[in-house]
Amino acid sequence: MPEPSLLASEPSLLAEAAIRWYDRNARDLPWREPGVGAWPVLVSEVMLQQTPVARVLPAWREWLARWPTPAALAAEPPGEAIRMWGRLGYPRRALRLHECARVLVDRHGGEVPANIDDLLALPGIGAYTARAVAAFAYGQRHPVVDTNVRRLVARAVAGEPDAGPATTKADLAAVARLLPEEPAMAARASVAFMELGALLCSARAPRCTDCPLWRVCAWRLAGQPAAPGPSRRRQQYAGTDRQVRGLLLAVLREAAAPVARARLDQVWPDAAQRDRALAGLIADGLVALTTNDSYALPGA
Ligand code: ADE
Repeated sequence: MPEPSLLASEPSLLAEAAIRWYDRNARDLPWREPGVGAWPVLVSEVMLQQTPVARVLPAWREWLARWPTPAALAAEPPGEAIRMWGRLGYPRRALRLHECARVLVDRHGGEVPANIDDLLALPGIGAYTARAVAAFAYGQRHPVVDTNVRRLVARAVAGEPDAGPATTKADLAAVARLLPEEPAMAARASVAFMELGALLCSARAPRCTDCPLWRVCAWRLAGQPAAPGPSRRRQQYAGTDRQVRGLLLAVLREAAAPVARARLDQVWPDAAQRDRALAGLIADGLVALTTNDSYALPGA
């Protein structure tokens, strides 16, 4: 059993130490600048969910230069969002963001709502993203819980090497207890936890000696026990249907007009896998069959 952590009896220590560290060590990221609107924050959170910061930075800038408001995006066909998404991966996010923009225009006067239930009701906006927008764009007090935060809290508070399977309600409650009462400070603590989890308290190579929680972290005090079982392997990409989908989509993104099936057939040698990937893209609404066996990004 790990030692009972000082943090269990003094939960505010974690936020205080994290904020102090964040103020000196945070990355200078454009969506964190004061006065950045809720739409740019929302776009950043959707992009960052499955893509590293370095790849998001240029894509985020280009996206917002072209579509500075939800209305600007909503006025274009969904295929343009998919085209702009480029190589960020998991392109269904582009489609959902486009859908989200249209709902913002139809139901919220083109603004990103500040209310958490309104945010949760938007297409493509889940428990994490809704709270991230409410906290980072509107300075509200909400537990913002991504994988990095779950791991940080599992280690620092519970003394466990890694977070267990996601149980959204319990995770939210556990993190909510760690937040300062004052909303703006709570939002600052939330981004500080994320940054600590991303930069120091990483899954594979935690930098405990640089960590502001060194003295109080329950996992460190327990001697950093390893996680049972093999560490999770990175998802492979080469040879998967995801790779084939990416290759097909790349051809359509670069094309100004519908592309004949014969051209798409050139991207991958295995016909069965190619057919499956194309059928999947169509089923997901990422690709449309136009006329006589030609394909394009979705219009309308
Ligand atoms: N700042 C706010 N949210 C972030 C995220 N998801 N990743 C990196 N930095 C962030």
